[in-house]
Amino acid sequence: MPNVVLVGAQWGDEGKGKLIDFLTVKADYIVRFQGGNNAGHTVKIGGDKFILHLIPSGILHKGKVCVIGNGVVVDPQALLKEMDELTAKGIEVDRNFYVSEACHIIFPYHRQLDLLKEAKMGLLRIGTTGRGIGPAYMDKFSRVGIRLVDLLDEKVFARKLEANLEEKNQILTRIYAEQPVRASEILEPYLAFAERLRKFSANTSVLLNDALQKKKNILFEGAQGTLLDIDFGTYPFVTSSNPTAGGACTGTGVGPTAIDTVIGVAKAYTTRVGEGPFPTEFDEELSDKIRKEGGEFGATTGRPRRCGWFDVVILRHAVAVNGLDSIAITKLDVLDILPKIQICTAYRHKGKAYEHFPQSMDILRESEPVYEEFDGWQCSTKDVKKYDELPANAKKYLARLEKLVGVKIKIISVGAERGETLFLESIF
Ligand code: GDP
Ligand code: IMO
Ligand code: MG
Repeated sequence: MPNVVLVGAQWGDEGKGKLIDFLTVKADYIVRFQGGNNAGHTVKIGGDKFILHLIPSGILHKGKVCVIGNGVVVDPQALLKEMDELTAKGIEVDRNFYVSEACHIIFPYHRQLDLLKEAKMGLLRIGTTGRGIGPAYMDKFSRVGIRLVDLLDEKVFARKLEANLEEKNQILTRIYAEQPVRASEILEPYLAFAERLRKFSANTSVLLNDALQKKKNILFEGAQGTLLDIDFGTYPFVTSSNPTAGGACTGTGVGPTAIDTVIGVAKAYTTRVGEGPFPTEFDEELSDKIRKEGGEFGATTGRPRRCGWFDVVILRHAVAVNGLDSIAITKLDVLDILPKIQICTAYRHKGKAYEHFPQSMDILRESEPVYEEFDGWQCSTKDVKKYDELPANAKKYLARLEKLVGVKIKIISVGAERGETLFLESIF
């Protein structure tokens, strides 16, 4: 298999976990490169359901090497819990699993500040997952963050923590009227977490470049999605990392010349969790119907996801900023029930048509989507095993999507189970 980057082409939850699990069969290394446990990647195998938050979704295949790259922010407590839960289910996590020692660590005060800030912003809130992701990346970029390598050295950790708490306590007490945090409350549990993580910690850039030298294949697992990217998303209603393909390099220490292909995953419709503009959002009635049919509730927070029509404008943007050379369309089966289906081909704002994603959130918020309408197929696609067996109207819908987006659809998913996947063309 070539070295593949797989990214979300919409607002996250596109079904990346399912596809990573599927593609892992052909990969040697599966690597997360950004985000943290704000992600929730679901894999269903023979009725068993796994939700991965930090550990790559390739972990369910024995003998594959799973890596958390330097671009990920790691909540050690959440990571250890996930490791324990997988172990309890008989999944081996003890070997072939590495965490970059350059990963920045999420502390309780990051989670606390995330929640306090959201509460303070009221109606202007982002609707974060409350996992401390933004505050941890803030520390990283302010150059005061504490990395796994620091946590593993008690003296360095204690020194950096003290220095951090001085400022964090000013913010907690003066801005939010909260109690200050004492270093001792954090030191002890975090040193215990560090001891458990020590044997998994590695210079993962060296590890991955060695693997490339040996002609091993790497599958880079994006979290979140293009429209949640800090640079290319619906800013400020985004996450604090680069879920787009470029993040695969900065978040792992592998150079761009090593990457052979970039796959974008998109649902056959669109969803988003949290606040922010969403031009093709359904009205409440249709939203409820699709949410129910597609099980559209957050895999991390359980929040109901907002639902809407497929939006070609954002897909074109995803093609450009990720350099997508193929797309995977998931959850086609969820549309089985609809008599009519729409695709948004452009936005109209004050008489002007936008075929490209506008940077101004006001334009986006005030835009009217321009739709093309299709007849639905109104029969089940769940048991379809080959593209040719899909109903004629489903094929028409997909062919039009492909033409409008301008990139080949190579994978179609018609169910959450590993096997409910159709390959139109090999990506390998
Ligand atoms: P991720 O974050 O991109 O990995 O996606 P999530 O796991 O958060 O959300 C996708 C949801 O859709 C999960 O519940 C999956 O089990 C489910 N799913 C994935 N592909 C399909 C599909 O083709 N059809 C249906 N009905 N469900 C799917
Ligand atoms: P996966 O990997 C969907 C959203 C949150 C919020 C915004 C910022 O499962 O696709 P954060 O906690 O990151 O600061 O929240 O980003 N968000 C996601 N939405 N899927 C995700 O991950 C998400 N991770 C974050 O809802 O709007
Ligand atoms: Mg998810």
